[in-house]
Amino acid sequence: MNYLDFYKLNEEPFSSAPDIKFYYNSAQHSKALVRLMYAVDSMKGLALLIGDIGTGKTTLARRMLDSLPEEEYESALLVIIHSGITADWLLKKIAMQLGIPDPSENKIALLSQLYGRLNELYEQHKKAVVLIDEAQMLKTKEMMEEFRGLLNLEAPDRKLITFVFFGLPEIEENLLLDSPLAQRVALKYRLESFNYESTEAYVKHRLGLAGNKDEIFAPEAIEKIHAYSKGIPRRINIISSNALFEGFLVKAKVIDSKIIDGVVADLGITGEKKETTATADVAEAIEGSFIVESVESSAAPAPAVQEIVQQRQKPSAPPAAPKQVQEPQRPAAVKAKPKKQEDQDEIDSILDKLEKGG
Ligand SMILES: Nc1ncnc2c1ncn2[C@@H]1O[C@H](COP(=O)(O)OP(=O)(O)OP(=O)(O)O)[C@@H](O)[C@H]1O
Ligand SMILES: [Mg+2]
Repeated sequence: MNYLDFYKLNEEPFSSAPDIKFYYNSAQHSKALVRLMYAVDSMKGLALLIGDIGTGKTTLARRMLDSLPEEEYESALLVIIHSGITADWLLKKIAMQLGIPDPSENKIALLSQLYGRLNELYEQHKKAVVLIDEAQMLKTKEMMEEFRGLLNLEAPDRKLITFVFFGLPEIEENLLLDSPLAQRVALKYRLESFNYESTEAYVKHRLGLAGNKDEIFAPEAIEKIHAYSKGIPRRINIISSNALFEGFLVKAKVIDSKIIDGVVADLGITGEKKETTATADVAEAIEGSFIVESVESSAAPAPAVQEIVQQRQKPSAPPAAPKQVQEPQRPAAVKAKPKKQEDQDEIDSILDKLEKGG
């Protein structure tokens, strides 16, 4: 018997992948999504979603892409995985994602193709929206000027293209490389970590989707998870999944706060069990281990530049939103874009790498 059987779970409830099947529409995510949807609906030009490490930015970006009806939007999600990316390269990728099959190598010609395509989309009453994840990696003045150029393209009543940058708060410093661009930020929202209620509901939501609606974590255990994780979803996942495994080893049907203490001490950087550890120190230790991981992963031979286009997915069941929170308007059905399997495989492997690295 493994721990999934022991806890009557059909699958791993706290996987590290930003799988939107497990999306939980927390009050924090919901507020962010409502604002971002408004920004793209009204074609505001440039919107920013910033948040600390592991707060759920990528999850939100994927969920947002999924929420943009295809009849209304020509949309794409690009993930920047290297800061060495050039402005020309990015421009070309954007052109391809917006449906220009053969983008020109010549910059002027490429810009004219883009302008033509954006106008065409405008005539078709479609909104061109490009979501950019890990946008803090866009770091050059040249890059910022390119975005500004695209944002200057306007129809009489609206911008022709809208970007949403998802990333760490340092995006804001990078934007200042081109202060006119910084001034064009029409909407900025900071994704906060979960409050206690959200952490509790999130843990239960994930366990429920994985097949068990019983009380596996005692209320004091959830309190500890919240305190140690500081409400950051990635930390919640790590602590909870380790707790399930430890709980299984000691055959605890209900996981209590002692198990959480033990797991959290084990997750310290040294890996040694500490006698007593202040919550904040442990949280930092967990954070620290991510930083080390991401440094290691960028040392591996990585493609110079890479992008993904997120394929839309239909969640098998509508996400359970907390009652007090209003879910943004979603279309009844979102058609999946046809996509070659090999592309999808590549996307999956990039996403895996991203997730492991960060
Ligand atoms: N609203 C949510 N619903 C379900 N799972 C979530 C949610 N938010 C975050 N998670 C989970 O938390 C983990 C971290 O999320 P994600 O990768 O989206 O964070 P991030 O802010 O993009 O992190 P990074 O700063 O490293 O890029 C993932 O396992 C993801 O599945
Ligand atoms: Mg991310």
